[in-house]
Amino acid sequence: MTLSIRPIDPVSRPFFGGVASGIDITRPITRDQAAEIEKGMDQFGVMVFHDQRFTDDSQIEFSRHFGELEFATNNLRTDKEQRLGAHIADISNLDAQNNVLARENRRRLFSLGTRLWHSDSSFKTVPAKYSLLSARIIPSKGGNTEFADMRAAYDALDADTKAECEPLICEHSQLYSRAQIGFGDFTEEERRQFAPVQQRLIRRHPSTGRKSLYLASHAGTIVGWPVPEARAFLRDLIEHATQRKFVYAHQWTQFDLVIWDNQATMHRSRPFDATEPRDMHRTTVAGTRSTMAEAA
Ligand SMILES: [Fe+2]
Repeated sequence: MTLSIRPIDPVSRPFFGGVASGIDITRPITRDQAAEIEKGMDQFGVMVFHDQRFTDDSQIEFSRHFGELEFATNNLRTDKEQRLGAHIADISNLDAQNNVLARENRRRLFSLGTRLWHSDSSFKTVPAKYSLLSARIIPSKGGNTEFADMRAAYDALDADTKAECEPLICEHSQLYSRAQIGFGDFTEEERRQFAPVQQRLIRRHPSTGRKSLYLASHAGTIVGWPVPEARAFLRDLIEHATQRKFVYAHQWTQFDLVIWDNQATMHRSRPFDATEPRDMHRTTVAGTRSTMAEAA
């Protein structure tokens, strides 16, 4: 069998969300196969591969076909609280002994920020290209991940709004996204670590050249705007961009590997029973430049 990619929902969303079959990506793939997957990503923004039984090593090896990997920041974990290696973001509700975190656990509460729409690492100067999420243990129900197509959302803006957004620069920080869920329990060092970075509101995809809205709940200000006006404007844009017609909701099965392009999508996690383990391992491919380096 060879790699084939088809739309997940050819009727409602023929250009957003693809499902790949005919390939075992846990084993070494060829350069041509990697190029085909990247082409699929350019078209669909999100791609699902079912039944891929990755180890952390094989996931890292596969991910490296698409660029340099980010070092994981791992949500306030101290060194002795780390469960996983430097290139694996620990998207779990587990402690270092694999016990489910208590409801009031600080790291758990911080991680609830992923329930808000965002694009991974938009708070880094050079933000992420792809995120690759491998479902190792999933809860009995809930815990979907939803994806929004920011290219389609941009295209659907009226001409005046496009023109208004075009020159705008936002400041992104995890302090802003966590403030929205009432989490402000940061140390001085964390506050320094989470200092805001600037990103263009409209970005151009490095490979396809398509424009998209670069939004995230991490965006808390627009340069030169009063803060309340900026927040209200960004909130309206997120509301526009996450209308159901732009959204694919992924219901996980164990061993799914989902890749999304942070340069063209937003995503958010959905709730699940906090007493059940959920263990997802993410590798993150770094982008190659800040959106600030793009010509206006
Ligand atoms: Fe995320």
